[in-house]
Amino acid sequence: MLRGSRFVKPFQLQAATNWQSSLIKGPPADTIFFLGFLIIAAVLSSFWIHLWTFQIDHSTNQTIVINDKYEITPKIIEFPLNCSIGINQTQTCPTNYPIAFTSDRLDPSSNGTCPDYFRFIHEDLKPWRTTGITRDMVERGKKTAHFRLVIVKGKAYIDRYKKSIQTRDMFTIWGILQLLRRYPGKVPDLELMFDCDDLPVIRSRDYRGQNSTQVPPLFRYCGDRWTKDIVFPDWSFWGWAEINIKPWGSLLKDVKKGNERSKWMEREPYAYWKGNPFVAESRRDLLKCNVSDTQDWNARLFIQDWILESQQGFKHSDVTNQCTHRYKIYIEGFAWSVSEKYILACDSVTFLVKPHYYDFFTRSLRPVHHYWPIRNDNKCKSIKFAVDWGNNHKQKAQAIGKAASDFIQQELKMDYVYDYMFHLLNEYAKLSKFEPRIPEGATHLCAETLACPAEESEKKFMTESLVKSPSMTNPCTMPPPYEPKDLGNFYRNNINLIKQVEKWEDKYWDSIHNKQQ
Ligand SMILES: *[C@@H]1O[C@H](CO)[C@@H](O)[C@H](O)[C@H]1NC(C)=O
Ligand SMILES: *[C@@H]1O[C@H](CO)[C@@H](O)[C@H](O)[C@H]1NC(C)=O
Ligand SMILES: *[C@@H]1O[C@H](CO)[C@@H](O)[C@H](O)[C@H]1NC(C)=O
Ligand SMILES: *[C@@H]1O[C@H](CO)[C@@H](O)[C@H](O)[C@H]1NC(C)=O
Ligand SMILES: *[C@@H]1O[C@H](CO)[C@@H](O)[C@H](O)[C@H]1NC(C)=O
Ligand SMILES: *[C@@H]1O[C@H](CO)[C@@H](O)[C@H](O)[C@H]1NC(C)=O
Repeated sequence: MLRGSRFVKPFQLQAATNWQSSLIKGPPADTIFFLGFLIIAAVLSSFWIHLWTFQIDHSTNQTIVINDKYEITPKIIEFPLNCSIGINQTQTCPTNYPIAFTSDRLDPSSNGTCPDYFRFIHEDLKPWRTTGITRDMVERGKKTAHFRLVIVKGKAYIDRYKKSIQTRDMFTIWGILQLLRRYPGKVPDLELMFDCDDLPVIRSRDYRGQNSTQVPPLFRYCGDRWTKDIVFPDWSFWGWAEINIKPWGSLLKDVKKGNERSKWMEREPYAYWKGNPFVAESRRDLLKCNVSDTQDWNARLFIQDWILESQQGFKHSDVTNQCTHRYKIYIEGFAWSVSEKYILACDSVTFLVKPHYYDFFTRSLRPVHHYWPIRNDNKCKSIKFAVDWGNNHKQKAQAIGKAASDFIQQELKMDYVYDYMFHLLNEYAKLSKFEPRIPEGATHLCAETLACPAEESEKKFMTESLVKSPSMTNPCTMPPPYEPKDLGNFYRNNINLIKQVEKWEDKYWDSIHNKQQ
């Protein structure tokens, strides 16, 4: 069947002797399909440069190992959604998805080390560094959790406790399911509690002294310096269906194209913001800085009316069409805001109104390098000065915008978002001191159970963000923890830079007042 020894050699086939007894009833058609693709793959790969191996494990009994000096065109192994309905009219999870896949290649576009913000994984898991994580600690997080995620043998099980705001929980789970498709067999067994609400709840001050061994490890989207919640990428990376924001992977490409069309120098020389001011006092305060007949603080501010937008098909809320000004304001809402990444991606200078919260990637941003700091208490004066500074230092201002968009395009691409999830879960699982078990009544979820019955934009976004193939490269290499001294220096440097900007700002306003006198 396999003609030519050239093709036979690199493959070792260990097919199961007893197909039927295996967990999975893989019909022989599968094997033929597989052999077929292996042959095609081998033929297509007329160049073999790399030395690498990969392995597909369909069940514990069937292993196909490809292991030699032959490069096989990676894209060929695809696992599209299989929306065939099971016997009881319910969507079932396909049984033929690989449960293991190994490759020893590193991402050729980097030297293999993860971006710096991965180092905060060590910081987030510090409370359990010496005690480990017990079942009791996990259970304590249940009080506010929306769901429990259990991963056993590469499969995800969800125990749902309550409904989240909008589709946050569904798209978060969708993201985790994509991680499992990306790295079959690599995500370790674990059990965790996830809270989809905005505000962090595990207050450090409640876990001092003897309570310090009881900190619940609770996953959510953001944290602050007073809490110990573990931060995880938010749902919007897979799309925010309610307000029609596309999955991050495709959005990043659109923004990049948009940036090429509209050069910084040609953009409006003002600070732009568009959002919902009703979620936070500080946003309402910002609106006072808007241009009017009597004042111009160099700010152009707009209210986003999501209800009107949804009625008009989101024509005016496309984030990729909002990179029209040289300066863009980021201001937190009720907590952190998912808009930060869209703003940083613009090539404009991000004006960061002093934030209270952080999410998984923002802690590595540096003032004056990636963004321009704006005071929270005196926003208008701060903005006015910052725009003047930028328009008088165009090269430097442009460089800040570029550093931020480069950071976003390179270090926050979807590959790294998955790698962040992978390493966080991996480090978390390493600390676990108990055997994860599938809770009674938990549902086994896979991409099919979510995407097949979905409709409209939810379906569209899931289809768009589906991970179709296992990753041909390994996750990036986790960087070591910060030395406490280095982390201290990092924070101190940031504070000093912000103070420096504030000094410039004070001087600027002093000189204006002096002139007026
Ligand atoms: C197939 O796998 C199952 C479960 O791991 C094991 O009990 C059984 O012995 C295996 N059969 C063969 C033929 O290896
Ligand atoms: C399908 O329905 C039958 C009869 O109601 C039940 O015994 C069986 O467990 C169901 N199968 C699945 C996969 O839900
Ligand atoms: C889709 O899933 C069904 C049920 O698990 C299976 O019988 C069928 O072979 C799958 N189709 C493909 C193309 O994998
Ligand atoms: C590898 O990449 C990291 C992050 O981009 C960088 O800090 C480091 O210097 C690089 N190392 C080498 C040897 O290029
Ligand atoms: C320890 O936890 C208990 C119950 O949660 C609480 O009442 C007590 O104040 C905590 N003690 C400290 C020192 O934080
Ligand atoms: C801010 O000013 C602009 C220009 O006058 C106006 O179009 C916009 O509606 C104003 N925004 C708010 C929130 O009032």
